[in-house]
Amino acid sequence: MPKRDLLSITDLTPRDIEALLQVAAGLKKRAKSPHILAGKTIALIFEKPSTRTLVSFASGIHALGGFPLVLQSEVLQWKRGETIPDMARTLSRYVHALVIRARQHQDVETLAKYSGIPVINGLTDSEHPCQVLADLMTLWERRGRKMSHLRKLKIVFLGDSNNVSASWMLLSGMLGLNFVLACPRGYEPQPDLLQKAKGLAGASGGRLEVLQDPARAAEGADVLYTDVWTSMGQESEESRRRLAFQPFQLNEALVARAKPGVVILHCLPARRGEEITDQVIEGPHSIVFDQAENRLHIQKAILMKLAGRAR
Ligand code: CP
Ligand code: NVA
Repeated sequence: MPKRDLLSITDLTPRDIEALLQVAAGLKKRAKSPHILAGKTIALIFEKPSTRTLVSFASGIHALGGFPLVLQSEVLQWKRGETIPDMARTLSRYVHALVIRARQHQDVETLAKYSGIPVINGLTDSEHPCQVLADLMTLWERRGRKMSHLRKLKIVFLGDSNNVSASWMLLSGMLGLNFVLACPRGYEPQPDLLQKAKGLAGASGGRLEVLQDPARAAEGADVLYTDVWTSMGQESEESRRRLAFQPFQLNEALVARAKPGVVILHCLPARRGEEITDQVIEGPHSIVFDQAENRLHIQKAILMKLAGRAR
């Protein structure tokens, strides 16, 4: 069987996604996980900082009986100029799968192209597929584990058209969800991403909107999601972004416009006082730590699917 990668959320089918949710929910209930990765080493390559992705993958791999080999990119010859194709072909002879967080999505695509083993995207400048699967699991658990119930929700992402919101736009398009991105003018999604997500939404019966008015976007929302205004690697734009995104702050005034049972999501890490206030992230609607916990469960399911059957 050919190896499978998870580089973009679109590498999965809606059926794959539903199956991952079921497996993850089953793993979450069990005190002990099956040792599907026994005798296997999974390398975790990080070119950017991480708390959740790094620790949840390492812990999940250990729970599945495998060995998580954590490699900050500085320790690899990659940082001294070894090419990604050479690194990919070498590592494929030592380990059984790769998880990588990289600055450039294209590097992850090259790694996957030259690797004989599954490659999982742990965040790039373009996408964060593991994150949105954990987010989806968090909503699905709260809505009776029915995808049809998720299709009735108004899911609003306030802020940047970044890796997380890009994967959400594609995911919503694939699953027929109702997704609104509220972002400042000049920070809209790239036209090719928008076109792809709209094409998917057209085929699935989903709804995708990009608005510049945060108050209008939050009206009647079932889910309000936000992420940092300045992603890793964009630090030089920070002061400009802080000004542009200020009206998009997820605060109590915006929460008041949403449905009474609205839930608050944030992929974390959060910058309190910027994209979200303390009151909202600590308030009764916030489920951000349930969301963070689900990174562990869904990633175990992803590893079982992609790496559990690899050589
Ligand atoms: N949400 C997320 O990916 O967090 P980390 O950057 O801590 O991995
Ligand atoms: N958009 C954020 C997500 C962090 C998990 C970043 O790329 O920094």
